[in-house]
Amino acid sequence: MLRKIKMRMKTPALVANPNILEMQYAVRGPIPQRAAELRRQGREIIPCNIGNPQALGQEPLSLFRQVLGLLENPAWIARERQLRQLTGDGGKLLEEHRIPESVLSLCEETLAKAHTGMGAYTESKGMEFIRQAVAEFIDRRDVVAAMSGVPADPENIFLTNGASQGVMFVIDLLIASSQDGIMIPIPQYPLYSAAIRKAGGVQVNYYPDEERGWIFDRAILDEAVEGARAEGVNVKAIVVINPANPTGAILDEASVREVIEFAAGNDLMIIADEVYQENVYGGEFYSFTSVLGNREVPLVSLHSISKGFIGECGHRGGYFEIRNPPLVKGTGNDFSTYLTKQASVNLCANTPGQLLTYMMVRLPTLDEDIQRRIEDQKQRILQDLHDKAVMIRDAFAEMDGVECYGESGALYLFPRLVTLPVGTTDLDYCMALLEETGLCTVNGSGFGQRENTHHLRIAFLPPVEVLARVLPEWVAFHNAYVRGGGPYR
Ligand SMILES: Cc1ncc(COP(=O)(O)O)c(C=O)c1O
Repeated sequence: MLRKIKMRMKTPALVANPNILEMQYAVRGPIPQRAAELRRQGREIIPCNIGNPQALGQEPLSLFRQVLGLLENPAWIARERQLRQLTGDGGKLLEEHRIPESVLSLCEETLAKAHTGMGAYTESKGMEFIRQAVAEFIDRRDVVAAMSGVPADPENIFLTNGASQGVMFVIDLLIASSQDGIMIPIPQYPLYSAAIRKAGGVQVNYYPDEERGWIFDRAILDEAVEGARAEGVNVKAIVVINPANPTGAILDEASVREVIEFAAGNDLMIIADEVYQENVYGGEFYSFTSVLGNREVPLVSLHSISKGFIGECGHRGGYFEIRNPPLVKGTGNDFSTYLTKQASVNLCANTPGQLLTYMMVRLPTLDEDIQRRIEDQKQRILQDLHDKAVMIRDAFAEMDGVECYGESGALYLFPRLVTLPVGTTDLDYCMALLEETGLCTVNGSGFGQRENTHHLRIAFLPPVEVLARVLPEWVAFHNAYVRGGGPYR
């Protein structure tokens, strides 16, 4: 041990990339770090700091796991078929544990297409038949044929290790100088501020209107872009997260159109983060590609297997599509060429993630037996999420000075803490809440917020019985904290 320390003292300190040193990511920041410490000490922690559904008990879709298992072990497909031949009591006992014929056929069909199997590198942009299926999914979702829209091009679709990797590819390529800026909503999902920081660009904030349900209009966008230009920033793109993390806002068609008009008028690329497109709970989702139609505005739209009713965060799958890729100055090539270059350096996205992305986009076209099984599970998961959002909102109504605007889209609520004691911040509040109840949330300042406002973000993911226990504790904590005029303890 002593020897190790001595050796380390001889090693000169190195200068590391300041962009990485300064990157921040509150979702895994001081509150979750303290939560991890408490957990090590044996405390029960309820991790609502991150949209990680299966960590809080959401069941994986059985179809996804059966397919993944069989694709990883193709020999099991034959074994399943042999089990099918068993008759008598043994056969009956096995009946309910058997994998349906429809799933076995789906796996065989998929294996034939993914002919190099799960253990081989794939094409850098991802397996071609999956990119083709993603294109068909987008066209079906956007009712492209009926709307005389532009079909998706599999060559402009990239399979990635989650949407995060796609965001990094795009932002790394966009930022060419320290004066290049990207507009992001405030509050935002901190992947964006971190990616811009890492690439050495400028974060240009625009502020959706909290009291109007976190919606924004053209005037808000104009103000942001003009302000940045006045400071010499070369604004290149606008990020829109729809449905939004952390606010839950869902854009209507007119708002999506307004962003497109704004981008067209200002020569901006749109980066549409649509990973929560299934988390609308009765509301309506309008994809940017469907509203874009044949307008020639550069658009990157992203989707993921991590959210919706799938929740396969750990499997790291997703895709992005680029439309109208701009030419890259001085090269004769377009933006897509250099995205492909980035994907090539990365070799390929992981194959289980690619195959789960395939399952996600194929779901609406699978055979009836599979559809029925999935539909039950899907509705149960989405209803459960919606019910939990309502439960938490009901608890806010019992807390002094907690206002929660907008819809409950995505997986989060972002309430405003209006009456925090003087001198305390939302970070203090979230830390005290964690210490008192084990509830791990994230302070609003981690996402960005207007000056002199305080918020927190909670993911509405814990099981109903856990919420039923912890919400009354939170109400009691909150009212004592704000009425007591200072830290609870
Ligand atoms: C808005 C948004 N985009 C992207 C991601 C990252 O998704 P993935 O797991 O696909 O990388 C998240 C994760 O929470 C998110 O909230």
